[in-house]
Amino acid sequence: MKRFAMCGVSQRAMGMFIRPMVENFSETCELVGLLDQDEKRFSECKADIPQVSSVCEFKESQFEEMVAETKPDVVIVASRDDTHVTYILKALKHNLDVITEKPMATTAFDCKRIMKAEEESLGNVTVTFNYRYNPYHMKIKEMIMEGKIGKVTSVDLNWYIDTYHGSSYFQRWNRKREYSGGLSIHKSSHHFDLINWWLDQSPVEVFAFGGLNYYGSQSDYNPEKKDGRHCGTCDVSQHCAYYSRWNARGKGVKVRDDHIKSDTGREKGYTDYRPDQCIFDSDIDIEDTYTGTVRYDKGSLLSYSINFSLPYEGYRLAINGTKGRIESMEYHAPSRVPFPTPEQTIDYIPLFGSKETIHVVKREGGHGGGDPVLQEDLFWGADPLRSYAILSGSRDGAYAVATGEAMWRSVKENRSMMVEELLSGEEQQRKDIHRV
Ligand SMILES: NC(=O)c1ccc[n+]([C@@H]2O[C@H](COP(=O)([O-])OP(=O)(O)OC[C@H]3O[C@@H](n4cnc5c(N)ncnc54)[C@H](O)[C@@H]3O)[C@@H](O)[C@H]2O)c1
Repeated sequence: MKRFAMCGVSQRAMGMFIRPMVENFSETCELVGLLDQDEKRFSECKADIPQVSSVCEFKESQFEEMVAETKPDVVIVASRDDTHVTYILKALKHNLDVITEKPMATTAFDCKRIMKAEEESLGNVTVTFNYRYNPYHMKIKEMIMEGKIGKVTSVDLNWYIDTYHGSSYFQRWNRKREYSGGLSIHKSSHHFDLINWWLDQSPVEVFAFGGLNYYGSQSDYNPEKKDGRHCGTCDVSQHCAYYSRWNARGKGVKVRDDHIKSDTGREKGYTDYRPDQCIFDSDIDIEDTYTGTVRYDKGSLLSYSINFSLPYEGYRLAINGTKGRIESMEYHAPSRVPFPTPEQTIDYIPLFGSKETIHVVKREGGHGGGDPVLQEDLFWGADPLRSYAILSGSRDGAYAVATGEAMWRSVKENRSMMVEELLSGEEQQRKDIHRV
């Protein structure tokens, strides 16, 4: 029996790790400890998943006690992003394996610390990049590996987040760079990891533009310039286009996905924190729009954009190679798209020849069917019949974060950023010198 301790009893922890562990993997896996800075998270979790009602609870400061008392084999980290590094380093010090949610950390500097600690530990770090496990994304990986498009020369990836999902980031801790690293790390690290994995290349240089256009106090949609409101009690919510689009006039959330906490009383799941903060607060310090260019070590180029306030959600992808091109367009969450959507396919267009359209075998489950297959690899070990590596390690986690950091720093400093400089800590040292 493998013993798992959970750092951060978040929504994601409950849905991705705790419930699957007790419902699908209990023959070989046992949850032995729960750690969180907010004790209310334990009662929330135990009310929702009664099978874990006797699992021991530990405060933020009790990591050592948790390890001594529960003797875990693996520490799973799914707390607020900025806290990942602390628990990863502590677990590695005990030579324990770590499974961490993305982003591995919120700065390249912390990623470097994790990689160094892993080198000195018997423990291994796995980063749960679930987008890799989406069947469309696996098929694209296989097509590139088969050489169907030859050597990849350039990638166009435009990612669209709708007003429902996009605004949710600005209601929660994610809206502060100190907690999430900003959305070029918190969200785009998924996309940068996909590209790194598909191309089997590492990012070298990044240049980007970005801005805060929809959220924050200067937004054209802000019904009243006033800080500190919450959707659950807001008296101008009916004048808020984002609130009215997705909620009834009564205070009940109509539409759900795993980025929104629950239908009613969302704020009640935490002690000193509300996930329904006003998206127009002036303390929001991250961007909601980016365009950027990335250069890779074996010569490929990426043209990337992401926007967190669009009328529908999905992505548009093209991968160009010396022998042909792959194209795909996805609409996420079709129930939220205000028009009929076509089913996703992958088009393969050889440079000289006929186009083929591929209908991928779909799977059930979260994140396009990726989450359940990832859970099997995490709890049973990587599928030995798969012919290529798909589980991510600390190096993958680090390059994804460093690309995201390079992107927001490029926006701020209006210059291109070298990924290795961020990872080596030179950038951090340069900043420290300037601070002194
Ligand atoms: N892979 C995916 O598709 C995906 C999807 C959603 C979330 N996530 C990741 O999962 C994690 C949780 O996200 P969420 O939206 O479910 O969060 P959440 O807001 O539901 O929970 C965050 C938790 O972190 C806890 N926490 C804060 N500071 C802490 C500390 N110092 N020590 C221990 N716990 C602390 C909070 O009390 C809370 O329980 C994040 O890292 C997020 O990036 C990944």
